[in-house]
Amino acid sequence: QNIVILISGGGSNMAAIVKAAEQGGWQQRYGARIAAVISNKADAKGLLFAQQHGIATAVVDHKAYASREEFDAELARVIDGFDPKLVVLAGFMRILTPGFVDHYVGRMVNIHPSLLPAFPGLHTHQRAIDYGCKFAGVTVHRVTAELDHGEFLDQAVVPLLPDDTADTLAARVLTQEHIIYPRAVEQLLAAGR
Ligand code: GRF
Repeated sequence: QNIVILISGGGSNMAAIVKAAEQGGWQQRYGARIAAVISNKADAKGLLFAQQHGIATAVVDHKAYASREEFDAELARVIDGFDPKLVVLAGFMRILTPGFVDHYVGRMVNIHPSLLPAFPGLHTHQRAIDYGCKFAGVTVHRVTAELDHGEFLDQAVVPLLPDDTADTLAARVLTQEHIIYPRAVEQLLAAGR
């Protein structure tokens, strides 16, 4: 079973999943491998990490396409070249068209840095601070056409501290992301779903 991971930047969640696959023997245990890491940004640092781990990489630059649909069509073509059983969005900062999402429905997951359904969309940490929340967190969920919805696979919660900034909160949440995302993907592989 091939896994394709999509990133836009540092790819720390992708790296956590790659390490879990290597250390957890996913190839031997589930016949699963990270077949490719694909980014919409040519300068995404995560591409280097993937290459260092012997994983194929590709870039589909969204600026090179006149419409969202054309970008998504090319992205799907590149992804399908790796015959994915599972598509993992990991810090992939693009809104995907319904046509793209439908093509991967049931086999695409995402991680969102908030306790959904609270704070869908962007700037989740600053919004939690501005609201005076006492807790924040992260959600791993299946991707459906409705942004940041879809079956929740896991969540983790962290406290907000009085002097938190968006950056200090993001760092605390990111630590939890790196725990629950690899675990959620492995649970899907183990359940064959
Ligand atoms: C993280 O906040 C994650 O929740 C969101 O993108 C940010 C960067 O993730 N999806 P990564 O380091 O690129 O995996």
